[in-house]
Amino acid sequence: MAHWTDRRADRGGKIVAGNWKLQPPRGEGVELFRAILAGLGDAPVGAGGPGAWVIPPAPYLGLFGGELSLGAPLGLGAQDLSPCGYGAHTGELGGELLADFGCALVLVGHSERRQGGESDPEVAEKALAADRAGLLPLLCVGESEVERDQGDTIAVVERQLAAVLATLAPERPLWVAYEPVWAIGTGRTATSEQVVEVHQAIRKSLARGGRDGAGTPILYGGSVNHSNAGALLAEEEIDGALVGGASLKAESFLAIVEAGATVSD
Ligand code: 13P
Repeated sequence: MAHWTDRRADRGGKIVAGNWKLQPPRGEGVELFRAILAGLGDAPVGAGGPGAWVIPPAPYLGLFGGELSLGAPLGLGAQDLSPCGYGAHTGELGGELLADFGCALVLVGHSERRQGGESDPEVAEKALAADRAGLLPLLCVGESEVERDQGDTIAVVERQLAAVLATLAPERPLWVAYEPVWAIGTGRTATSEQVVEVHQAIRKSLARGGRDGAGTPILYGGSVNHSNAGALLAEEEIDGALVGGASLKAESFLAIVEAGATVSD
């Protein structure tokens, strides 16, 4: 049976995940989720799992988890997790609890959390906690504008990856998202060439860490929208998109999903 982390497994297209961040308010969020689910209709779900994912703020997870039937074409992810398991940890949100509420994936190391002070070792600890809870960690890596200008892009991404590769056993599932900080929410999408170069370096790092570099799904994130998604997702090196702003409108999110399905045909 194909493992669900295999990028070549049949998912009916590329992976498109919408990271809603801290928005929208409740009424809009419920409407958005239902419109996405309706828009996906009975899109096929292969052994590789769903191709489309929503990653909403945590309070939505319980709500949406209850609305997804087994085998739905839409997966549910969380934006962060605490490394704590069940117990007396006031204010923490652990992986087991997220999994209990229908979550299958969790972002770790998003740049907005790294900017808030999250370190590489903390990110690695979270990736391990996610795996222990049965969640798929989607590790976010990416350089700042200054780091790119200094020619440090690959070194930064390799450093961010190394912490997780040293912690999470190579046979455990892991997805990666390359999200250059300068491209997030700025409208300045990285070029396909820039993305491909970094994805290739990530694959080499993964292989050096004993992983299946070629088989690991690597997504690109940073100002992806319905106009630029087709060209980015047409690249063989780019297995999917992690979408912020454009995932907050059902039409634009669904158009990106469609672009991913079209290039995979
Ligand atoms: P934008 O698509 O709004 O640039 O956000 C990207 C992102 O941070 C997804 O995690």
